[in-house]
Amino acid sequence: AETVAATATVVSETGPKISRNLYGQFVEHLGRGVYEGIWVGTDSPIPNTRGIRNDVVAALKQIRVPVVRWPGGCFADDYHWRKGVGPERKGSINSSWSNAIEPNTFGTHEFMDFMEQIGAAPYVSVNMGSGTVEEAQDWMQYMTAPANTAPGAERAKNGHPEPWKVPYVGVGNESWGCGGHMYPEEYANRYRQYQGYIKTYSGPRAQKIATGADTDDYEWTETVMKQALKFRPKATSPILYNTTRPLMDGLSLHFYTLPSNKWDKKGVATGFGEDQWISTMQRALLMDEMIRRHGAIMDQYDPKKEVALVVDEWGTWFDKDEKGPGGLWQQNTLRDALVAAVTLNIFHDHADRVRMANIAQMVNVLQAMILTDKEKMLLTPTYHVFDMYKVHQEATALKLGFKSPVYQYGDVKVPMLSLTASKDAAGKVHVSVANLDPNRDAALTVDLGSLNVSKVSGRVLTAPKMDSFNSFDAPDTVSPKAYTGAKLKGSSLSLSVPAKSVITVELE
Ligand code: AHR
Repeated sequence: AETVAATATVVSETGPKISRNLYGQFVEHLGRGVYEGIWVGTDSPIPNTRGIRNDVVAALKQIRVPVVRWPGGCFADDYHWRKGVGPERKGSINSSWSNAIEPNTFGTHEFMDFMEQIGAAPYVSVNMGSGTVEEAQDWMQYMTAPANTAPGAERAKNGHPEPWKVPYVGVGNESWGCGGHMYPEEYANRYRQYQGYIKTYSGPRAQKIATGADTDDYEWTETVMKQALKFRPKATSPILYNTTRPLMDGLSLHFYTLPSNKWDKKGVATGFGEDQWISTMQRALLMDEMIRRHGAIMDQYDPKKEVALVVDEWGTWFDKDEKGPGGLWQQNTLRDALVAAVTLNIFHDHADRVRMANIAQMVNVLQAMILTDKEKMLLTPTYHVFDMYKVHQEATALKLGFKSPVYQYGDVKVPMLSLTASKDAAGKVHVSVANLDPNRDAALTVDLGSLNVSKVSGRVLTAPKMDSFNSFDAPDTVSPKAYTGAKLKGSSLSLSVPAKSVITVELE
């Protein structure tokens, strides 16, 4: 293959901290995401701990999942938490997803157990769409009040005397769509009311995350920031209302990567041509623009960046696979791995404002980490990117000077390379590179400036085809290999980056 030369320079070591929460996940009661994917029940022959799959837990621990958003998605705005606690679990209808039967066997206790098993923090979405302020408040009390209170005693009776920590709470989901079809003014008012009752009764304060925009709906961000961020100022009495604490800690953003950009015909997950490969990359790269523009609006109302932009749904979304099991199940290929890498690189670039993100969704749904088939489980190409990138969690982003060569197909042009670099607390430096070009290799030279390193090692993820994927028969078709394409000479690092690949190198 043709090789394209490129150079980058580490210009400063004082970037923002890359929050581990950028590596968050999203789990919704949808398709086989919870039932089968995570929960098999205590009677299952599939090895489990209190009903939760051991293989899935072990795989998720490996990638250090920091935080999990649950129970939805659209499902959250029709979830009545009481149905999912206690010995009597009546089923209900999952009105958001094909009116499927929701057995409610996986409820608050099971979710919190799952969080403890994988070592992640819960990010619970309360129901604003079809719920009430009272129901949301009751749930907060049930989860966090000490056992010597009535809600805490009820929780203890149901098996968990210790209150749980609930550090993140989402107030509604897609309230402009499935969560209530509200105008931003209405949501802002409702949010103001709800947030007052979203609090914890032990443990850390709950950080409140307001429903944010869909994709490029900047009007939503503008209105919610303007009307829901602060106490209402009283013009004649600035003293009385002189509180600076914002009413929200985060504002969400949902942005999905569809190869075609059209919801009625999104594009296929496998068997696509280079036109759909590049259009997928082009769409994924738009994440940068979304963050910049929503971020610029947030800056006007919150110049100190106290409110995090929380990209709590992102990832690829393809057409329904008629041969697949349904429930937004889709195959996950090398293309998904590139989308994951490019997106995480963008999050790192904006780590001062973007402080949590949750890929949709963890198991068996959309851009999943893990696919299961009864007792079988496989790790997707996306999982491997999260594994290779976990070294960036909590590290300091390094500022890079870089102008990428262009990758073009037809009329579409995108940057060929996407880079990120960080330095961790132990002084190790990690550089990750994604080569979006499916045909050409890159010879990348990185001037490391004053970084003092003398050893390099790494891993590379690539595969023969743009749509190579892992199957239960061939689970390692797309899996990381030891990387031998790095050379370190003084402060100059040369990396040979294969076409359609992701690499991460460690420098000590
Ligand atoms: O992730 C699937 C769905 O996408 C979520 O339920 C909803 O919030 C979004 O539209």
